[in-house]
Amino acid sequence: MVTSARDYHFATSYDRNHMKAHHLDWPNQPTVFKTYEGVEQIPLPEVSQFPETYFWRLNKTKSPSSTDNILNIELVSKIFTLSYSLTAKRRLPGGYEFHYRSVASAGALYPAELYLAARSVEGLESGVYHYGIYRRTLTPLRRGDPWQAVEKATLESEVEKASAWFFVTGIFFRSAWKYRARAFRYVLLDAGHLLENLVLALKAFNLFFSIHYDFRDDEVAELLGLDQKKEGCFACVTVHGKSAAVFPGGEVKKLPETFLQASCVSNREVTYDEILSCYQAGIQPIERKKTNTDLIQSLGVAPESWKNLPGCKPKKTEMKYPEVIFRRRSKRNFVNQELGLDKFLHLLNLVADALEQNFVPGHPGSWPLACGFLTGNIEDTLSGFYLLDPLNRRIGLVGKGTLVHKMASVCLDQEWLGNASLHFLLMTNLQEIDQTWGPRGYRYAMLAAGRIGQSIYLGATELGLGCCGIGALYDEEARQLLGLNKESALLYLVAAGPVKRL
Ligand SMILES: Cc1cc2nc3c(=O)[nH]c(=O)nc-3n(C[C@H](O)[C@H](O)[C@H](O)COP(=O)(O)O)c2cc1C
Repeated sequence: MVTSARDYHFATSYDRNHMKAHHLDWPNQPTVFKTYEGVEQIPLPEVSQFPETYFWRLNKTKSPSSTDNILNIELVSKIFTLSYSLTAKRRLPGGYEFHYRSVASAGALYPAELYLAARSVEGLESGVYHYGIYRRTLTPLRRGDPWQAVEKATLESEVEKASAWFFVTGIFFRSAWKYRARAFRYVLLDAGHLLENLVLALKAFNLFFSIHYDFRDDEVAELLGLDQKKEGCFACVTVHGKSAAVFPGGEVKKLPETFLQASCVSNREVTYDEILSCYQAGIQPIERKKTNTDLIQSLGVAPESWKNLPGCKPKKTEMKYPEVIFRRRSKRNFVNQELGLDKFLHLLNLVADALEQNFVPGHPGSWPLACGFLTGNIEDTLSGFYLLDPLNRRIGLVGKGTLVHKMASVCLDQEWLGNASLHFLLMTNLQEIDQTWGPRGYRYAMLAAGRIGQSIYLGATELGLGCCGIGALYDEEARQLLGLNKESALLYLVAAGPVKRL
């Protein structure tokens, strides 16, 4: 029985000498599009214009704290498109089409789903909706003002002042079909990737929003009609400020059984105890037990000295943010070519900014994640393992040597990783997060890692570099290679650098 972040993570570690054979059950492959039988769908308006903002500037922006901008259905349509849309197509044998999306996803299994509880959105009746990414539609799940249900479900005050809530969920079996018990890691990382895209879209429209990882999971599941054995909600984003008339709400009643059945994505689903018990163990938000988690100090590694993180020169040419979103793809064709110092510093500063903003919502001053990086072939930079301290804007060399090749072998022998100039390492001390937040802390760490992963992908895209997230690694080998203490772990690696062809 898994009851903590530490238990789950270690129980689902990969070990080179004990990998269990697993054959993918192709006839039972989960569908990647959630559908509701017999419910009429509302098409979202076509999007003709996107914000003109440049990615690099947007990234530095924080949510405004006033409610000058208000939501309407056109804006909602743009937010969905920029957050989660189909961006590329591949023809598969047999005439099938496979669609890539604006977010990365482990194994391209796309466990993440997006919902909207609309209270006061011009052009859209108050209600709760599921976003259908394939046809760009909204499926109404509840009609009427959802505020009472949202108030019950979230721990927010002044619910009546908000106009809408976005919910990011994950369907366990979509990823577990391939990754079995380890899949909870990927479901959370993927949810983090999507959350980051959503946050950027809200910033781009200058909307006043707040992010929440803490809510009453049972109530949220009831609000959205989720079968909690199959699908969990991991983040809620509130958009503040009312604009339009509110359609009166009905009672908060149970949704039909058919809605719950929509969380089922294939005919024979396997339930993994490790996933369910880790999810269930963290179902109740708890009072934070400790404060001031300085995770970087708790990994068991320290640099001999720190040096200030240099800023970067202004960019001569910049890519607009929507273009960055739609162009983002995973690249594995890294070449052993020097990464220029300027691009390197842009990436480091981007990650430092992203980390700084990635404290646990509602727990300012507490970070669930620490970041380091391995440098390969980078201009004027000694190869080695470094830590990045975002709060003090400094970096420190922990150990010299070209570790990217060794790390490639740790990552299930994905040798192409050895050619990447840079491996970002998103790490945590599992005992520390358990003691600070209880088992729910695992979500915080993985969501933060996913969010930063998405930022690195987008930053690399803007800089004309390749990027790939890596969740497949021999966990203990990674810990030993980096010299982390027994309680610490590498959660997620994101490689970036010059590639043969973009
Ligand atoms: C959490 C996570 C883990 C991933 N792990 C790996 C990995 O170990 N190896 C790999 O080649 N790609 C990995 N990827 C990249 C995915 O395979 C890729 O995102 C997916 O195929 C969709 O393609 P796209 O990113 O080009 O849209 C990972 C992506 C995510 C988000």
